[in-house]
Amino acid sequence: MSTPDPKLLLAWYDSHARTLPWRVPPQPAGRRVLPDPYRVWLSEIMLQQTTVAAVKGYFDDFTRRWPSLADLAAADLDDVLRAWAGLGYYSRARNLKACANAVVADHGGAFPDNETELRKLPGIGAYTAAAIAAIAFDRPAVVVDGNVERVVSRLFRLTEPLPGSRPLIREKATLVTPNHRPGDFAQAMMDLGATICTPRKPVCGLCPWEKSCLVAHDADVAQFPRKAPK
Ligand code: ADE
Repeated sequence: MSTPDPKLLLAWYDSHARTLPWRVPPQPAGRRVLPDPYRVWLSEIMLQQTTVAAVKGYFDDFTRRWPSLADLAAADLDDVLRAWAGLGYYSRARNLKACANAVVADHGGAFPDNETELRKLPGIGAYTAAAIAAIAFDRPAVVVDGNVERVVSRLFRLTEPLPGSRPLIREKATLVTPNHRPGDFAQAMMDLGATICTPRKPVCGLCPWEKSCLVAHDADVAQFPRKAPK
C-alpha cells in the first residue's frame, strides 16, 4: 500500500473545495493568491467550538463592520462583544480584541508569519498558530483538528484509541503534509473530513485517497478514530 499522495488530494481540492467566505475564490490556471491573514485568523477563532454553518453569517457581519485588523483594533470592546453575541464563549471575543491590539502595538499591524510568534498572541494556541501559518502564509505547518484526526486514523488504520494516539496521528500527518501548497493541503484535509471522510458513513468511492487508505470500504471504517472507553 502506497503512502497517500498529497497531489491527489490537492487535485481533488481544486475541483471540490467548499466555497467559504474566508477563502479566496478559485483563480485562473496557475495563479495563486493567499488570503488576508486577518480573515484567516478571524475565521479560525470563530470556528473554535462553532460549526462552519453557524460562523458564516457572523464572519460576513464582522468583516463588513471591521474590514481590517486596524479597524478591529480601533473598535470598542463592548461593540465587539455585542457583535459576538450568539457565538458563545465570550473569552474568545475578549482575546480577539486583545490580539488585534497586540498585533497593532507589537507587530506594526501585520500578523507574524510563523507558529512560534503567532503562539505568543492572545487566544492563539498550537492549532490556530499552525492553521494561520499554513493557510495565510503557505508555511508547511501541520494542522491537526478533529477532521484531520479522523482522516489520518483511517488512512493508516491506527488502532490505538484517542487521546493516546495523538502523537502518532501528528507524526503521520507530518509525513503527508507537502512543502508545495501546504495551506491548500490543510484546508483540503478539513474539506475531505467534512464532506467525504465523514464520521458515520464515509463515501469512500469518491475519495481521492481511496486506493491508499487502509480502511476504505471496510465494515469497520466508522470505528476510526478509535476512542478510549470513558
Ligand atoms: N474549520 C476550522 N478551520 C477551517 C477552515 N479554514 N475551513 C473549513 N473548516 C474549518
